[in-house]
Amino acid sequence: MMDINKLEKSDLKYNETLKKKIEKLKSKRNAVIIAHNYQRDEIQEIADISGDSLALSQAAVRTDADVIVFCGVKFMAESASILNPDKTVLLPVMEAGCPLADMITPEKLRAKKKEHPAAAVVCYVNSSAAVKAESDIACTSSNAVEVVKSLKEKEVIFVPDKNLGRYVQSQVPEKKIILWDGFCPTHIRVQEEDVLKAKELHKDAEVIAHPECHPSVLALSDHICSTGGMFTYVKQSRSKEFIISTESGMLYKLQKDNPDKKFYLPTQNLVCANMKLITLGWVAHSLENLVYEVKVSDDVREKAKAALDRMLAVTGEKKGAAIAGY
Ligand code: 13P
Repeated sequence: MMDINKLEKSDLKYNETLKKKIEKLKSKRNAVIIAHNYQRDEIQEIADISGDSLALSQAAVRTDADVIVFCGVKFMAESASILNPDKTVLLPVMEAGCPLADMITPEKLRAKKKEHPAAAVVCYVNSSAAVKAESDIACTSSNAVEVVKSLKEKEVIFVPDKNLGRYVQSQVPEKKIILWDGFCPTHIRVQEEDVLKAKELHKDAEVIAHPECHPSVLALSDHICSTGGMFTYVKQSRSKEFIISTESGMLYKLQKDNPDKKFYLPTQNLVCANMKLITLGWVAHSLENLVYEVKVSDDVREKAKAALDRMLAVTGEKKGAAIAGY
């Protein structure tokens, strides 16, 4: 199978030209490039800040730049715009969506709330601004357990990722979690057999998984955490080899930061097509033409911001997820 993260020689030369163009446009626009850990290698190379969803939300709040070029998927750019309405937030490819976020609508969530009037609503950040506006508090994979524990309500409607919701339930047994039937189409591609085979091939490797993976995969893991948490874990671990159950883009920085350690994916199918839509060419196009601006209407923005602000208050600055670029 073709490795989407590996480039041909001709691409590398072309990319150098694009990188120079991006540098010039960045200073002209007073822009910052923020990239999620699943981005293509060359996008992570040019990013000023990279990290997991929580770290990127925090970075969006702190930046002094006038323009934020968000290399990720739409809900991430939307969160940056909600938290920073005075900045121009650009998503280089408008079609870079999140199928998990599309598995819930505000109308369906309102109906669920009517069924459970006493429950608090926790929405994973992988959701639209309109769904966040219907929720009491947001969470990311790095703080979901902490967020749910912080609530006074005993019942919690957790949307839209059922696997993350199940994982939270296992960590917070004192609450009753009402799950939504959503899932990440990339993470569910890892199967129990893939992990077992990888363990057989790499007997000394530790297994690390993202909580969006199926519970049977999580059960085979030594450690479960967000993408940012993976960097912290690997750095402090004495192990030399790791099986990483999350999107393939993670391997770029894990390998760069830990040249003496080895990383393996349990399956080569761990590629999020939406994350990979962002290329250097589109980033240059975005900066040159100031496209595609992500804006949220004021009424939705205020309510969605309240859910994000509550999350950031629970997490606190010091506890922020691993972040590169600071
Ligand atoms: P992290 O917050 O762990 O980076 O996860 C983001 C995501 O979208 C996983 O699919």
